[in-house]
Order: sequence, then structure tokens, then C-alpha cells
Amino acid sequence: MGHDHHRHEHDKGLRTKLHWLLQIRNFWQSDVNREVFAMAAPAAGEHAVDVGAGMGPATVLAARRGARVTAVEPSRFMRTILSVRRPFQRARSRITVADGVAESLPVPDGSVDVLWTVNAVHHWVDLEAAFDELARVLAPGGRIVLMDEDFTHPDHPKHATHHDHEQETTIVDVVAIEAALRARGLEAAGEKTEAAGVPVKLIRATRPAG
Ligand SMILES: C[S@@+](CC[C@H](N)C(=O)[O-])C[C@H]1O[C@@H](n2cnc3c(N)ncnc32)[C@H](O)[C@@H]1O
Repeated sequence: MGHDHHRHEHDKGLRTKLHWLLQIRNFWQSDVNREVFAMAAPAAGEHAVDVGAGMGPATVLAARRGARVTAVEPSRFMRTILSVRRPFQRARSRITVADGVAESLPVPDGSVDVLWTVNAVHHWVDLEAAFDELARVLAPGGRIVLMDEDFTHPDHPKHATHHDHEQETTIVDVVAIEAALRARGLEAAGEKTEAAGVPVKLIRATRPAG
């Protein structure tokens, strides 16, 4: 029984990997990631953190710009892909691929100038712990951009196939997230808006320079 169970789990893993590989076009680079990169505006010499970096579409842009990027990613499969991608980057020395989750970020207190996350908040399992971590790592004057595509919005091109995703994942409530970040001493604003031509949920925050 255990054997069948393990084989089933293994197959499920393979299916997931196949799913990601078939989607590689969307995860290697994406307009939504380009938009978040523009909003976060990582500058040369800054320490940037890409939470749930996936295949690193925003990580590579930030490193090219001259930021030192910690790409935090819990999936070994995704880290492998990003680690294979990294050596081909001229800015490879500025990219660190790190095992971790939003709820436990592998970076020191107050060390981060800019942090973003794209289409990953709905995967976070403990939002309160994740917000504690964001507040812990952000340096004075540091900024945060959290963006999740809003598949529940009827105008989203993937609405028909993806609209029920939220039933299986963490709900991204921009008002609640804004309040949670304010409660941790950050200035924050959450809104439902549009980015790269699709409906998104967006929360931007900063730690006052003090
Ligand atoms: C839809 S992908 C987005 C990847 C990338 N940000 C992009 O836009 O292409 C979501 C990512 O979140 C990661 N993830 C899952 N749980 C997470 C957690 N608790 N903290 C941070 N990232 C997580 C997944 O492994 C996956 O790579």
C-alpha cells in the first residue's frame, strides 16, 4: 500500500513538473514580472529579495540592473531551473538562489532595500508569519511590492480556467494585507488594479526612513 501511495505521490510530482515545463514560456519571463520590476525599481548596489522567485523572471532583470538579488524559492525543482539559468547571466555573481519560504526568509534583519513577490502570495500558508518576516527584513526606507494576478476578475484572460483557484489557495485580500502591514509599522496601500493589461491585486509598502 505504502509503495502504491509513494508511486502515486511520485506521479503527482512528475505531473506538476510537466505542468511547469509546459508553462515555461510564461514563467521564464513575463510582462507582469516586468511591471513589478519597474514598480520596485531595484537600483545598483541595493539588496533585493524576490520571494517565490520561480524561474527568476524578475530576479534576472534586477541583477542586470545592478542589484544584489536573493531569489527565495521553496521548490527544489524551481531552484534547479533558476540555478541552471544563473550561469548564463552576465550578472550571475549578483544572484543568490536560496531555499526558503515567505514565512521564514533566509536573510538577516533590516538587510533588504527592496522586496517583491509575483503570483506567490496565494501560496503562502501563514500570512501573519510572512508579514512578520517582511517587517523584520526590511531596512529603513525599504520598499515592498506584492502582486498577484486576479483570476477572479471576469476581465482576466484566464478567468474561465483559473477563477476557482482561490478556493484551494490562500485568499489575497488587499485591504486585510494593507492593514496587517500597517500594524507592523509600515506605510502600506492595497488596491485591485491592472498591470500588464490584466487585473491584479497589488499591495505596496515602505518602511519610513525613521
Ligand atoms: C506561480 S509561481 C510564480 C513564480 C514567479 N514569481 C513568477 O512570477 O514567475 C509561485 C511560486 O511561489 C512559490 N511558493 C510556494 N509556496 C511559497 C511560500 N510559502 N513562500 C514563498 N514562495 C512560495 C512556488 O514554489 C512557486 O515557484
